[in-house]
Amino acid sequence: MAKVIAGVGTSHIPAIGAAVDHNKTQEAYWKPVFEGMEPAKKWIEETKPDVCIVVFNDHASAFSLEATSTFAIGVAPEFQPADEGYGPRKVPVVKGSPELAWHITESLIMDEFDMTIVNEMPVDHGLTVPLSIMYGQPEEWPCEVIPLCVNVIQYPQPTGNRCFNLGKAIRKAVESYPKDTKVAIFGTGGLSHQLQGERAGLINAEYDEQWLDDLVAAPEKIKHTSHTEYLRETGSEGIEAIMWLIMRGALDEDVKQVYRFTHCPVSNTHYGLLVLENQDE
Ligand code: DHB
Ligand code: FE
Repeated sequence: MAKVIAGVGTSHIPAIGAAVDHNKTQEAYWKPVFEGMEPAKKWIEETKPDVCIVVFNDHASAFSLEATSTFAIGVAPEFQPADEGYGPRKVPVVKGSPELAWHITESLIMDEFDMTIVNEMPVDHGLTVPLSIMYGQPEEWPCEVIPLCVNVIQYPQPTGNRCFNLGKAIRKAVESYPKDTKVAIFGTGGLSHQLQGERAGLINAEYDEQWLDDLVAAPEKIKHTSHTEYLRETGSEGIEAIMWLIMRGALDEDVKQVYRFTHCPVSNTHYGLLVLENQDE
């Protein structure tokens, strides 16, 4: 039987990908950030999930305002790194997990989550930066990846509660897959940041830390946080953090916090990294 063994939360700041790609991780600005990632890297190297479901948002690389899906799942055998203006990142092609992805898709739709089914999708920094953070620079990514894309760009975004419940449905889907498969789920994006407009540069580290405390120990407290509160407290892009609620919903009610690291600022963002395991792992 397949099992969701753990959840990872991480920001997906594009400059982190650029620092990796251009060998800048030991420069003064980046050193403490990459040092802070080491325990999470070590954890995943030891834990070796077979499949990572990476919940992320596309930043107008694969989709555009012509069509916006609230939730989309990638079922293809592979996904190419997107060209975001400087050529595609020189990272391995992302290998999909079509059989499990189709199984999850069917289960989710039968559970009344109307997923958009994606057969072709270039994947941008929202997905490739979290892989670089956790796995560094391998020849091939050491796991299969199911990209699960959430609209956090175009209003109206899904509610945190809907995201949390989607996480629960993903867990149910995984656990009804008959092949022994270790699955980790990533929630990506956030924490507070605003890239545009009058409040560009906004960061609210205190709010983020409390939000992380609640995400780990009392997700019920934050699953009904309104979009307006996210916008006001964490900036226009801080709402990306609702994707972490999908990860959290896929785990037990009580989880073990294996690792947590924050650093402020990284680029324009309060960087957050979280590793959670179910108690019986
Ligand atoms: C930054 C963060 C993001 O999440 C993003 O998508 C783009 C830029 C930043 O901090 O610069
Ligand atoms: Fe982003």
